[in-house]
Amino acid sequence: MQKVDKLKKRILSGIQPSGYLHLGNYFGMMSKMIEHQDHDDLFCFIADFHALTVNPDPKILSSNVYNAVCDFIALGLSPDKTTFWVQSDVPEVTELAWILSSCTNLGLMDRSTTFKDKISKGIKPNMGLYSYPILMAADILLFNSNLVPIGKDQKQHIEIARDIASKFNANYGDVFVLPEPEIVEKTQLIPGIDGQKMSKSYNNTIPIFGDEVVIRKNVMSIKTDTTPINMPKNKDTTLFYLYCLFANDSEKLLLSKKYDAPGLRYGDVKLELFQKIMDYFAPYRKERALLHSKPDYIKDILNSGAEKAKLIASQTLDKVRTSTGLGIANEL
Ligand code: TRP
Repeated sequence: MQKVDKLKKRILSGIQPSGYLHLGNYFGMMSKMIEHQDHDDLFCFIADFHALTVNPDPKILSSNVYNAVCDFIALGLSPDKTTFWVQSDVPEVTELAWILSSCTNLGLMDRSTTFKDKISKGIKPNMGLYSYPILMAADILLFNSNLVPIGKDQKQHIEIARDIASKFNANYGDVFVLPEPEIVEKTQLIPGIDGQKMSKSYNNTIPIFGDEVVIRKNVMSIKTDTTPINMPKNKDTTLFYLYCLFANDSEKLLLSKKYDAPGLRYGDVKLELFQKIMDYFAPYRKERALLHSKPDYIKDILNSGAEKAKLIASQTLDKVRTSTGLGIANEL
């Protein structure tokens, strides 16, 4: 078990299990987060309580969680260097969410832009979706997190967590650490095959662990312009950008020269990009397949992750209970 190092920053982030991973997830959040494990005290969890707010089919939810766990480990998250768990395995977080909800004005939730977005898409909201930011605040505050790596779309959630923590601290004493967001700018930038931000909801992704045929098909469908072959091409485009994610400096330079000269065929670049993606992820795909076939191993990892997380969670909750006047039996 890794030692709790008080000098290291506590970094925490959660990811909703959403089926399969794509390049946007990987280059946006995951690789950034995994980098933290070598320098910081990284806490990382699969947010299945949050996923429940959209009422997924139970079989799909559980298989999504299992897959997300395998994805993370295959991509290099080390259960020895980090605290890695499934959110619902540490249900203490829901107790904290309840307590925090009494420190949260309705107005704060009403201002949540992600909530407003969902309603505008026609989703009929339930209470879980409404108080989603409170549960997220509980995730963050329960573990005394200093820094929370997130995409821009989640920034307001960190502000909400800070608001709730400040209000709690003002009422009950200094219990919570105020978290800072670490905005991962790149998440906004990874374009999907149609040029919009890569996202499952736009159906424009390139999966990482998907079927090779699907990866190839999606890469070949990257939207390009109709510049004739004998003209130079625009580099400020999706294909060029995605290629650069996998290319070293000299490969980038070479491609850049090809874009500036006549004769470049987008189809050739796409084929090369496809091959690069397959080569880059080949070791991860192998590891992923291996892990997926070892449920007992995964179970052990998750049990010990939950145990480590519970240790911190119960310390924070004890403080919260004492300061709010709850759990008197402990105090007598
Ligand atoms: N809401 C986050 C997302 O959809 C997931 C999440 C849940 C999270 N709890 C968190 C992220 C706590 C950071 C910290 O991406």
